[in-house]
Amino acid sequence: MALVSAKGILDAARDGHYAVPAININNLEWTKAALTTAQELNSPILLGVSEGAAKYMTGFKTVVGMVNGMMEELNITVPVALHLDHGSFEGAKEAIAAGFTSVMFDGSALPFDENLAQTKEIVKLAHAAGVSVEAEVGSIGGEEDGIVGTGELADIQECIDITATGIDFLAAGIGNIHGPYPENWAGLSFETLTDIKAATGNIPLVLHGGTGIPVEQIDKAINLGVAKINVNTELQLMFAAATRKFIEEGKDLEGKNYDPRKLLAPGYEAMKLAVKEKMEMFGSVDKA
Ligand code: 13P
Repeated sequence: MALVSAKGILDAARDGHYAVPAININNLEWTKAALTTAQELNSPILLGVSEGAAKYMTGFKTVVGMVNGMMEELNITVPVALHLDHGSFEGAKEAIAAGFTSVMFDGSALPFDENLAQTKEIVKLAHAAGVSVEAEVGSIGGEEDGIVGTGELADIQECIDITATGIDFLAAGIGNIHGPYPENWAGLSFETLTDIKAATGNIPLVLHGGTGIPVEQIDKAINLGVAKINVNTELQLMFAAATRKFIEEGKDLEGKNYDPRKLLAPGYEAMKLAVKEKMEMFGSVDKA
């Protein structure tokens, strides 16, 4: 199946009271682990690509070529959207031109009126190409690929105003952060999430920082309107731990295990497990 816009995927998740995972990809192994697990579990999925990851993979066109090729060669039939994660204004335009089917324009570090104006512009360009748009207000805490946020709670009026630009889903800070949560983390602000939902109506909401949020908080967030949860660090940690174990046990020195297809296999399987766990936790299994 060809890549699709994320709008239908998220609308269905909102209506069905589950969340779709947006899994950040870095290379072929990440992409294959995400796509094959989605197909095996009959789950819709978004492949998230930060600008840093796109650059690492040599550019948006390479990413689009790899993902389209893999969809075809692996006979992927579940709905998949290729989504720019935390895009800049120029990055969002380039991703749309290259064939991404969904973009996040992250203007949360800009003065709000600039965020609003640039989001409007991206919505116009994206929708003309059938591409869905996510915008952000109230920065997500932590650091991801050089994008640093302090983790503020979103302002309700800003949520209302940015939703009125015609975006398809909204990422609003509710105390979530990228990367592992610190011991003293206060947890998600369900008060803020309830207020955002009441103020913005039917638009699907997005939760960033999906690594390490306890299942009770995930369930509650989904009940309050979250329809997409982004996961990045979890796969990196699982890949690194499995690779470390393989090498520390000396297995890379056995036979032809220096072959990257063998050396990377434990990390690949660990990532598949991480994706499976998230799909089960978010309720997206059999929702394709
Ligand atoms: P984690 O790295 O905390 O899983 O967050 C991912 C994310 O929000 C990507 O936008």
